[in-house]
Amino acid sequence: SKISRKRPHLITDINSIEGTVCIVDELKKVFEIAITSAYPDLDDPPVVITLSGNNPKFGDYQCNSAMPISQLLKAKNVKTNPREVANNILNKMPLTPLIERIEVAGAGFLNIYLNKAFAEHVLKCILQFGVKPPPVKKEKVIVDFSSPNIAKEMHVGHLRSTIIGDSICRVLEFLNHDVLRLNHLGDWGTQFGMLIAHLQEKFPDYKTHSPPISDLQAFYKESKKRFDEDEEFKKRAYSCVVQLQSGQPDFIAAWKLICEVSRKEFQKIYDRLNINIIDRGESFYQSRMDAVVKELKEKGFLEEDEGRLIMWGNSESHEGIPLTVVKSDGGYTYDTSDLTAIKQRVEEEKGDRFIYVTDAGQYTHFMTIDACARRAGIFKNGQKIEHVGFGVVLGEDKKKFKTRSGDTVKLIELLDEGLKRALDKLVEKGRDKVLTPDELKKAQEAVAYGCIKYADLSHNRINDYVFSFDKMLDDKGNTAVYLLYALTRIRSIARTAQISESKLLEEAKTSGFKLAHESEWKLGKVLLRFPEIILKVANDLYLHSLCEYLYEISSTFTEFYDKCYCVEKDKNGQIVNIFYERLMLCEVTAKIMEKCLDILGIKTVSKM
Ligand code: ARG
Repeated sequence: SKISRKRPHLITDINSIEGTVCIVDELKKVFEIAITSAYPDLDDPPVVITLSGNNPKFGDYQCNSAMPISQLLKAKNVKTNPREVANNILNKMPLTPLIERIEVAGAGFLNIYLNKAFAEHVLKCILQFGVKPPPVKKEKVIVDFSSPNIAKEMHVGHLRSTIIGDSICRVLEFLNHDVLRLNHLGDWGTQFGMLIAHLQEKFPDYKTHSPPISDLQAFYKESKKRFDEDEEFKKRAYSCVVQLQSGQPDFIAAWKLICEVSRKEFQKIYDRLNINIIDRGESFYQSRMDAVVKELKEKGFLEEDEGRLIMWGNSESHEGIPLTVVKSDGGYTYDTSDLTAIKQRVEEEKGDRFIYVTDAGQYTHFMTIDACARRAGIFKNGQKIEHVGFGVVLGEDKKKFKTRSGDTVKLIELLDEGLKRALDKLVEKGRDKVLTPDELKKAQEAVAYGCIKYADLSHNRINDYVFSFDKMLDDKGNTAVYLLYALTRIRSIARTAQISESKLLEEAKTSGFKLAHESEWKLGKVLLRFPEIILKVANDLYLHSLCEYLYEISSTFTEFYDKCYCVEKDKNGQIVNIFYERLMLCEVTAKIMEKCLDILGIKTVSKM
């Protein structure tokens, strides 16, 4: 294996770079070559590259491989120490335009200092060609998110799933993956029997006249009440389920109508939040479920348990909870449809990644689906379920999120309140006096929906999170409002200098992109980390690191702007000097911030 090891391809010429470079990945390749040529006898030596953190004394990045390698050598009875190892690695470094110099420090750290000319080139490319994704192997990714239930409430949990899921899709789409956004609606099940039975009686001519069931939830409650109290009704509800499941046209028509009413409500939320998603509810898998159950039975994966058919993820240990594949009355369950859905996603959709965005409470369900899919041979090498779990939404009192009167919060009402509060905030700042009505409306929507999304995405999703309009509308700290203001301020710098983008480009071509001042260099290096952050998020699906990065850009920009004039004016406010290189840096900062916000699903405005 040592001999056949492929030497990674390195960047050798700055000018061959056309856009994005993931610096850590490139450094990993460079050090892999150095380490394997310094120690050809070690199998898979560790190549550890990290960002150095805030102290400039430790360089920009570090290679911390010398210590573990020295341990490995000692285990082979080779006398050495980490500093010696570090120096040996240093002596084998291949040429790379990314690095200016490397220092061996302390116990054997390799401190890496980036090459400014390389940084300037990459930033100039961003100015010229825009923010491009780092190249990756194209994959088909299926993202199952939002997924509310018909006739039931779409609640704040679904809102979280919608926001997080959409943003995950956006990261993956930015990387040019083939993303299938699926709404796994709860649109099938026994509750439809009771809804249809109620519908038939209350609106017998529902097929020709659309009944006024605008409030499906009230309708659901009424029918549930009858179901629980009226034995006769209950029987009829059951027979409705049977007829629906056998595909009786009248029952299918009634079911469709009920689904349509719900869908229209869901769509209002999606339109407001600018969410694209394809409806593919549980009912889609109806016919496929019969086939899956038959196959599982034949292959002996199902066991009988008090009249139902179950499947264990692990046939020997019977650990955890089994799936209920067939109920004792012969009906199918949430488990059956998810097992069938994963088979469809593997075999028909030919997915490479399978992502599910739901509350953390469903983790066990998805891990059991994962185990059963593997056991049944649906998953082949390396395929797995990626469960993107999130915590519950709490009110400011740290209790379950409710209205003052104790009712569950209707999503549309929540969004309306966001709009109202956003407008109050803008008026409080006197923005209504400077912006046109149209600009004000755009700002209001950007702030309202942006702050709701950002508050969700900027916290580690796995934790519970406290929903507070006051906090999310604060214009200080890591909030959407702060970032949107920061961005408009950056944009206004070039505007006041009256320098167009094409003029900037021209300057970049003739005099180049320069990071002269220390704080320009610092900002430049933060901007260069964009590809690294994106690849990390696409891998671990934690969006809060992207939010933290955005905030870091914005604070580093402020530091730069405090220290460096971009435009110099005299006492009368006349422009006397324009620092083009700095305006270029402003432009690249704005471009990257916009891209980050776009990936978070947040609309930006030119004025607010
Ligand atoms: N309808 C479910 C709920 O409201 C979420 C569905 C998630 N997706 C899935 N394939 N099970 O909790």
